[in-house]
Amino acid sequence: MEFSRKVKIAPSILSADFANFGAECRAIEDQGADWVHVDVMDGHFVPNLTFGPAMCAALRTHIRGVMDVHLMISPVDQYLEAYAKAGADVISAHLEAGPHIHRTLQAIRGLGCKAGLAINPGTGIEAVACLLDMVDVVNVMTVNPGFGGQKLIESSFAKVRALRAMIGDRPVHIEIDGGVTNENAGALVAAGADVLVAGSTVFKGGSVAAPQVYGSNIKALRAAAEA
Ligand code: DX5
Ligand code: ZN
Repeated sequence: MEFSRKVKIAPSILSADFANFGAECRAIEDQGADWVHVDVMDGHFVPNLTFGPAMCAALRTHIRGVMDVHLMISPVDQYLEAYAKAGADVISAHLEAGPHIHRTLQAIRGLGCKAGLAINPGTGIEAVACLLDMVDVVNVMTVNPGFGGQKLIESSFAKVRALRAMIGDRPVHIEIDGGVTNENAGALVAAGADVLVAGSTVFKGGSVAAPQVYGSNIKALRAAAEA
């Protein structure tokens, strides 16, 4: 994974066909996805349940590129090794998930993965400042985590701009997660984002039987982001 600020589209498989994940992962990568975003939820930190490490290990065999695992779980530390062994390239943990995010980020890098720090809409970027030298990705949640298909929270733009300034020359990605559309992608990238997670926007209207729809959705989103 070489660092670049070029726009990366990361479809969230939360919007894929749950009975067909292998084919869905292959389809979105064939259709131009840069990263595959896997939303792990525990029914405790967030009010929804999704994938365990065994699921991620199974997905891995269908993903050629970057597997981006977003852990919305608390506690998180005791599960990091299992997700690393499942083949995650990036593991993001939430700042709000426990009292020792510094230790969590150290552990993620120690397992050989890129370390992601996710922050909820209610968390300010001040808390990120002293962690910037130990993260590879900051995941700015632009909806309250738990569900796909929500509307992006407007105050996120200013937050992303301020975070971008705070990051400076550091090789740290800004990932936007939640409510990304063709309408707001350009403004998000202008504010400093380089990874756009998109569930509904990529998967809408498509299927493994009609994967070219994913291709045109990804193309349109990338064009909007780069405009
Ligand atoms: C929300 C997840 C997001 C979400 C994105 O908890 O972290 O990745 O699924 O979905 P859309 O793009 O539909 O908002
Ligand atoms: Zn996510």
